[in-house]
Amino acid sequence: MADDVELEDLDGVGGKTAERLREEGLTNLMEIANMKAGELSGKVDGIGESAAESIVNSAMDLADVGGFETGTERYKQRQEMRKISTNSESFNELLDGGVETQSLTELYGEFGAGKTQIAHHLAVNVQRSEEEGGLGKGAIYIDTEDTFIPERIEQMAEAQDMDADEVLDNIHVARAFNSDHQMLLAEEAKTICEENDIGLIVVDSLMAHFRSEYVGRGELAKRQQKLNKHMSTLLKAANTHNVAVVLTNQVMDNPDQMFGDPTKAIGGNIVAHNCATIIYLRKGKKDTRVARLEDSPYLPEGEAVYSITDEGIIDG
Ligand code: GTP
Ligand code: MG
Repeated sequence: MADDVELEDLDGVGGKTAERLREEGLTNLMEIANMKAGELSGKVDGIGESAAESIVNSAMDLADVGGFETGTERYKQRQEMRKISTNSESFNELLDGGVETQSLTELYGEFGAGKTQIAHHLAVNVQRSEEEGGLGKGAIYIDTEDTFIPERIEQMAEAQDMDADEVLDNIHVARAFNSDHQMLLAEEAKTICEENDIGLIVVDSLMAHFRSEYVGRGELAKRQQKLNKHMSTLLKAANTHNVAVVLTNQVMDNPDQMFGDPTKAIGGNIVAHNCATIIYLRKGKKDTRVARLEDSPYLPEGEAVYSITDEGIIDG
């Protein structure tokens, strides 16, 4: 709960209801305030729709959300926004410092473009001090393709004189076995954020399970609905806990898909609309890679060249 507010302060919440809310991990005022009544009653046993409505309304009152805020308030929130260094100066310049908190960033591109390597390096760098381009906080890594490699983290950490064991200890990793499990892990990530100092959540890759489980046109609407819910969970985590959320995504490179565009991310509009920053990665000349900033709320489009080495991500 935020500051001095307790669950029991909400209208219609007695000891028993408070306990049930806690069991579901609903301890954050802002999170409850952002829920729909139906969502709350569906999630917590014993809370009917009308009780849920008064709980959500009083959470909104206490959290002072739902209406306008002044420019000063918005300014204050933006002052809290932080950036995590990618480790490459030119890449950081493209992003005006690095990957930012309070919103979602999509890294998409062909296989071998460097998505997983960048995600690994961010999970290391988020742990560095603010002076060194980090946040002094830990990371959560939702791994859907079994490509999280602890030895690689070790290698990157040691290359910058960090204690590799400590760095690994500050990364909470989970393997997602299917898309439902992935969605559940994102919910759990919010709880981890409440209990630990977390600065980064990685989902590598966002679409792999969704893409293989929901095949064909008939499944598309259902897939997009689930995906939307998943992304809104991640967005809430980004805003409530001031963390950066990095999603990796593949391109439509499927040869049987006649009209597959090799430069288009999969997942369609839902992914694009939820990501404030969109970065396209491709292989460049020799061993270099190119990052193109395609969308950002306030930065110009542009490109940066980087390389993947034993030390991790560096300038190209
Ligand atoms: P997919 O997940 O297959 O779509 O690709 P990706 O974009 O995640 O690519 P990833 O980040 O896995 O990049 C793979 C590339 O990184 C490899 O082709 C190597 O060139 C490079 N790489 C990975 N590990 C190392 C390493 O330990 N040392 C060096 N020098 N390069 C590495
Ligand atoms: Mg990968």
